[in-house]
Amino acid sequence: MERTLILVKPDGVKRNLVGEVLSRVEAKGYTIAALKMMQADRALLLRHYAEHEGKPFFEPLVEFMLSGPIVAIVAEGNRVIEGFRKLAGTTDPTTAEPGTIRGDLARDQGTKVVQNIVHGSDSVESALREISIFFPEL
Ligand code: RTP
Ligand code: MG
Repeated sequence: MERTLILVKPDGVKRNLVGEVLSRVEAKGYTIAALKMMQADRALLLRHYAEHEGKPFFEPLVEFMLSGPIVAIVAEGNRVIEGFRKLAGTTDPTTAEPGTIRGDLARDQGTKVVQNIVHGSDSVESALREISIFFPEL
């Protein structure tokens, strides 16, 4: 059974959208296999976002992800990695399709880094790597 890592980012937690995100994942038919609220630290985020190190949005992204609590979720189901990426919508919330989490619930706030409510793993390899970072106990 495939698994993916979902993060409700600090903007989603601040706006009380944790339940909304979980509802959409569950309504689609995926199973919540693990869930925790946490305050990320810099070391954890450097590991999670290693692929983006050196990009212009990297520091603003880390600062944003440190700005408040996040909720880490492992969701499970056939093709859940692809399925959650579709539920989330494209990275830029201004142009993300209506009907998606980002398209329905986020917009450009004029911040240094785009704030788009959720993260979702983008491949089987990323999902395994990211789940081990956020849920080493699994
Ligand atoms: P995510 O990893 O959060 O699921 O989002 P994604 O795959 O759609 O986007 P990715 O390219 O992996 O970027 C990770 C996060 O960095 C921020 N970002 N800002 N040009 C920009 O301002 C920019 N590009 C990326 C977003 O928060 C994005 O979700
Ligand atoms: Mg990504």
